[in-house]
Amino acid sequence: MVLSLQHLSLSVPDLKEGADFYSAFGMNMSEGHSALGFRCDNKPDDEIVLVESGQKRKFNHISFASDAAGFAAIEGRLKDKNIELLSKPFKDAPDGLWFRDPDGNLVNVQEADIAARPAEPVPPVNRPGVIERSAQRGCPKPTIAARPRRLGHMILFTPSVPRQLQFYTEVLGMQISDTIVEEYGAFLRTAGDSDHHVVGFLHSNAPGFHHASFEMGSIDEAELGAMRLFGKGYKHAWGPGRHAIGSNYFHYFRDPWNGMAEYFFDIDYIPKDSEWEPAEWTKKDGMFLWSADGPPPPDFGKNYEAD
Ligand SMILES: [Fe+2]
Repeated sequence: MVLSLQHLSLSVPDLKEGADFYSAFGMNMSEGHSALGFRCDNKPDDEIVLVESGQKRKFNHISFASDAAGFAAIEGRLKDKNIELLSKPFKDAPDGLWFRDPDGNLVNVQEADIAARPAEPVPPVNRPGVIERSAQRGCPKPTIAARPRRLGHMILFTPSVPRQLQFYTEVLGMQISDTIVEEYGAFLRTAGDSDHHVVGFLHSNAPGFHHASFEMGSIDEAELGAMRLFGKGYKHAWGPGRHAIGSNYFHYFRDPWNGMAEYFFDIDYIPKDSEWEPAEWTKKDGMFLWSADGPPPPDFGKNYEAD
């Protein structure tokens, strides 16, 4: 039963471009093993994005963590289903279980402590009839750290959303939070207390990587981060806006290979054992309530990894 998302690994055709992009995105880079690793300021020991050298931008693997009981349960389910356990893909990759999902995506499950997220102070907000901040300036300093706190979720393309749903719920114990009609999409949370989604699937003619999303401390931080990316020549993709599925504020940016990375803030959170009825959304209604630049770009659902 997976309890958290640890990291993802991508191949890119130019490591220098990868280093520049994820550094501009607001993460700290480390070198010295088989891939570049990117970490957040608040968790300097945890790599959340690994970038390896490859012929083209391509998804490599996803890594989850569980506790001892969950790890043993997953190991048992893999055995029951005759799913082959593989060696880790490179020497300093994490230990644990390595296997492939039905699309051939490489998946890792580590046994690890699931650390609580560090709490941050909540700024007072004035709203109609409610004054939380009085005789005090509310605009943040332009020097606030507009940098991701953690990897929140990632979305993969798949030729069969139902097949992926079956695997990730039956083998990894994930739970369905919401779906999109006609088996176009599905959004899954972990088996424990969880963000609305940590993994999602969108239909395509082939597997592929859609985007990864990183939590920011506020809308201000997300947009200051956007300004930093634009100032370095990176391109806007979609937003800022608010998703209906997951409720998070979003802003998407193009990486150097036409893929996307997202800043998010204020995603729905679903504690273990709480009542949550998955909804089935239309593509349009689920995608967004509003976005400053209107509907998503025409290639938002394009799988650049498919031939
Ligand atoms: Fe997202």
